[in-house]
Amino acid sequence: MLTLLRLLADGRFHSGEAIGLTLGISRSAVWKQLQLMEAESGLVINKVRGRGYQLATPLALLSLEEIRDAPAGPHWPVFLHESVDSTNAEALRRLDAGSSAPFLIIAERQTGGRGRRGRIWVSPLAQNVYYSLVVRLDRGSRSFEGLSLLVGLAVLNAIRSAGIDGAGLKWPNDVLVGGRKVAGILLELVGDPADICHVVIGVGINVNMRIASSIDQPWTSLLIESGHSVDRNVIISSLNKELGILLGRHASEGFEALRSEWESNHLWQGRKVVLTAGVGKVEGTVLGIDERGALRLSVAGSEQVHSGGELSLRLQDDS
Ligand code: BTN
Repeated sequence: MLTLLRLLADGRFHSGEAIGLTLGISRSAVWKQLQLMEAESGLVINKVRGRGYQLATPLALLSLEEIRDAPAGPHWPVFLHESVDSTNAEALRRLDAGSSAPFLIIAERQTGGRGRRGRIWVSPLAQNVYYSLVVRLDRGSRSFEGLSLLVGLAVLNAIRSAGIDGAGLKWPNDVLVGGRKVAGILLELVGDPADICHVVIGVGINVNMRIASSIDQPWTSLLIESGHSVDRNVIISSLNKELGILLGRHASEGFEALRSEWESNHLWQGRKVVLTAGVGKVEGTVLGIDERGALRLSVAGSEQVHSGGELSLRLQDDS
């Protein structure tokens, strides 16, 4: 399917005959493949009698060369998949098979994208970023302090460098624009957290997605916010650069060094909130985060600290 998509990516008309010749299939097989692609990906394909087929919007597909040659680096080994169940799952399989970190898995689509709390991460073909970076941690439990918050900051910086204004963070690691989720982060650990272990840093960014009926929370994409399509290779290269910088600072100075930068981007700083942990709920005002990235809440006049995991945060009102 990727070959077909590469042919159409330029946004010009291609006749069924020419496509069939390139792919070595009949014109009716071309027609069937295009229908399948449209249904699976949500991409719009124009069909005009006498001219052929055309993608309604030209596409920039993921390019290993562009990502590897990005001037700012870092130059981690990158593996690109046309289709994979989940880039996090693939990263874990590679690690299990003996690949040494750091390395990066990216994909054009995921058939079983994993979200937090057992949710599905909607991952259509050639529209968004599905990114899993594997890094080795060897400083014991300190290595994890604030790690998922750091990743949120890196994603936010990458999105901003694409010219998206109004983006911010929601503790612990959601990236929102106008109150809607534009990116999600899922960290998965392998090994002994007290000793040497690996973490898979999974990042999903909604880049050029226009419609997704199956997402059960308010969402947006970079295209929706900016009004134009955004090159995913540029976003991935920026994210590599930002993660390289922030992971380096985290390793040498600890999360404490990033704390005030994180807080200054926290959209709900000082807001009244309800924190949901399992079946329990706590109402309070957000004071900020501590040196480990845990949430500091003022609850009935005294301070409470809540760490990540299954916690979720909800606005109490819209004031
Ligand atoms: C969330 O629910 O907010 C986290 C979503 C994380 C999605 C990304 S997409 C790349 C990586 N592979 C996965 O299966 N999940 C993460």
